[in-house]
Parts: sequence; structure tokens; C-alpha cells
Amino acid sequence: MELGAFLRLTVIAVMLTAAASQTTPTGYANHTVGGSAGWFFNSTTNTSAANYSSWAATQTFNLGDFLIFNTNSNQTVIQTYNESTFRSCTTDDALNNDTIQYGGGSTAFGEALTIPVPLTIKGPNYFFSDAEDGAQCQSGLAFEIQVNHGLGLPPSLNQPPPPPYVTPPGPDFSQTPPVTIAGGSQAPGNSGFKNGVNVRGVACALLFGVAFLCFRH
Ligand SMILES: *[C@@H]1O[C@H](CO)[C@@H](O)[C@H](O)[C@H]1NC(C)=O
Ligand SMILES: *[C@@H]1O[C@H](CO)[C@@H](O)[C@H](O)[C@H]1NC(C)=O
Ligand SMILES: *[C@@H]1O[C@H](CO)[C@@H](O)[C@H](O)[C@H]1NC(C)=O
Ligand SMILES: *[C@@H]1O[C@H](CO)[C@@H](O)[C@H](O)[C@H]1NC(C)=O
Ligand SMILES: *[C@@H]1O[C@H](CO)[C@@H](O)[C@H](O)[C@H]1NC(C)=O
Ligand SMILES: *[C@@H]1O[C@H](CO)[C@@H](O)[C@H](O)[C@H]1NC(C)=O
Ligand SMILES: *[C@@H]1O[C@H](CO)[C@@H](O)[C@H](O)[C@H]1NC(C)=O
Repeated sequence: MELGAFLRLTVIAVMLTAAASQTTPTGYANHTVGGSAGWFFNSTTNTSAANYSSWAATQTFNLGDFLIFNTNSNQTVIQTYNESTFRSCTTDDALNNDTIQYGGGSTAFGEALTIPVPLTIKGPNYFFSDAEDGAQCQSGLAFEIQVNHGLGLPPSLNQPPPPPYVTPPGPDFSQTPPVTIAGGSQAPGNSGFKNGVNVRGVACALLFGVAFLCFRH
């Protein structure tokens, strides 16, 4: 076989692979955080009910998907786009425009809650519980995800209602009121593509098939 022909076919195979990697999901997904373990912390054993980083590594997250937190009022759900806030395990210094507290309003311990959180901004999204002065977060009730573009935001989430940010108690109590996060805006991050292995598999299959055809002639 001519080297030139082989190179041309290789280029075609690579282009086909690139096209295959553009495939988008067929719909929006709901991800139950922690699977059947839910979003819980045991203050006696000082452990979270699951390894949430491991759980997140099994999922692919896209714009318009929801995270479903099955939990109770002993834990909180904080979503932030700010890594320092995430690392600090507290919302005390958080800016109103990059951090959202879900749920809240409950004063009773152990009250069952299901908290749906829409993914509306591409790139890194961080989640943690700030209950027990950050101890839950420090001991595993925290995780980070990468949100890909997928199908983009559905109309129902293009203009999300103002998130119910709760001003954390403390000396800075008298700060400015909550600010709406523009749902359509995009964080600078990337759309980390998680299916690299599959794409590589397709590339090999294509190259192999092309090479096979060449050698037959
Ligand atoms: C996902 O969760 C949201 C929020 O609870 C809900 O509106 C939607 O119907 C759920 N979608 C699916 C496919 O279960
Ligand atoms: C926490 O763990 C202890 C020891 O395993 C167990 O007895 C207790 O029921 C757990 N508490 C909750 C709320 O799950
Ligand atoms: C969770 O699992 C990861 C490996 O997937 C490990 O590196 C990490 O230490 C675990 N976290 C906890 C809190 O056990
Ligand atoms: C992240 O939040 C911290 C407060 O925790 C703030 O000082 C910092 O400016 C924020 N970073 C960005 C990029 O907004
Ligand atoms: C939040 O506001 C600060 C300035 O107040 C700005 O620097 C930062 O980019 C904003 N973050 C987001 C996610 O809009
Ligand atoms: C919730 O927290 C309270 C106070 O720490 C504790 O007594 C109770 O057992 C917890 N309930 C659950 C279901 O974890
Ligand atoms: C729980 O773990 C955190 C961080 O790992 C630690 O600071 C805290 O002292 C522990 N609390 C208990 C009651 O063991």
C-alpha cells in the first residue's frame, strides 16, 4: 500500500473520530448524590455515608441535569463555583454571586429532605455541607464535579429564579442582599470531556478497519 494513501485514510479516520466525540447526550439526567447512601453524616463516627468523590467519578454531568440530595436537616447543601469557599468548608466569607445555600429554614434536627439542585453553569461546581462548623465537610461531606455542555440549558432553567441564599450568621450580618446568578452565563472553566477512553477505542477500531481495507488491495 502507498504511504500517501495510508496517511490520507488515517486523516479521514481521525476526522470521523472527532465527529464521533461530538455526540451529545439524548436527554437530561438526575443524579442521586451518593446513590442509595444519600447525603448523610454520622456525628458519632465522624464519617460521611459515602465517598462522594468516588461516587462523582462514576457520573457524567451536563448542563440541565439535577443533583438530587436525599438527606435530612442535620446536613446542609452548599453549591459554590469558588474553590476557596469550597476548601474553607464555610460560607462565612462567601460572595453572594458564586455560592448558593439550598434548603434551610428548618430548625428541627433530622427532618427528612429531598433537595434538587440544577446544574446551570459549566465547569467546576463544588458541593459541601457547612453544618457542625465545617466538621462534616472536613470529614468527607464534600465533592467536586465538572459540568459539561451536553445539550445546553433547557428553557426551564435559562432564567432560574433567584437562589435562596441565606446570609450566614456572624459579625458581617448586615451585608448586601442576595444577588441573582445569571443562569445563562458560563464559568471560565472548560467542558472536561470524560469519555476519552471510548473515543480512543473508536479511533483504534476505525484505524484498524481502514488499515485492513488498504492491505486487501
Ligand atoms: C429530575 O428532577 C427534577 C427536580 O426534582 C424534576 O423536575 C424532574 O422531573 C426530574 N427528571 C427526571 C427525568 O426524573
Ligand atoms: C452512627 O454510627 C453509629 C455507630 O455505627 C450507629 O450506632 C448510629 O446509629 C449511627 N447514627 C446514625 C444517625 O446513622
Ligand atoms: C475517597 O476515595 C478516593 C479514591 O477514589 C480517595 O482518594 C479518598 O481519600 C477517599 N476519601 C475519603 C474521605 O475516604
Ligand atoms: C472566592 O471567594 C473568596 C471568599 O471565600 C473571595 O475572597 C474571592 O475573591 C472569591 N474568588 C473569586 C474568583 O470570585
Ligand atoms: C462575583 O463578584 C465579584 C466582584 O464582586 C467578581 O470579581 C466575580 O467575578 C463575580 N463572580 C461571578 C461568578 O460572577
Ligand atoms: C440529628 O442531629 C441531632 C443532634 O446532633 C441528633 O440527636 C440526631 O440523632 C440526628 N438525627 C439523625 C437522623 O442523624
Ligand atoms: C472529626 O473529624 C474532623 C476532621 O477530620 C476533626 O477535626 C474532628 O475533631 C473530628 N471530630 C470528632 C468528634 O472526632
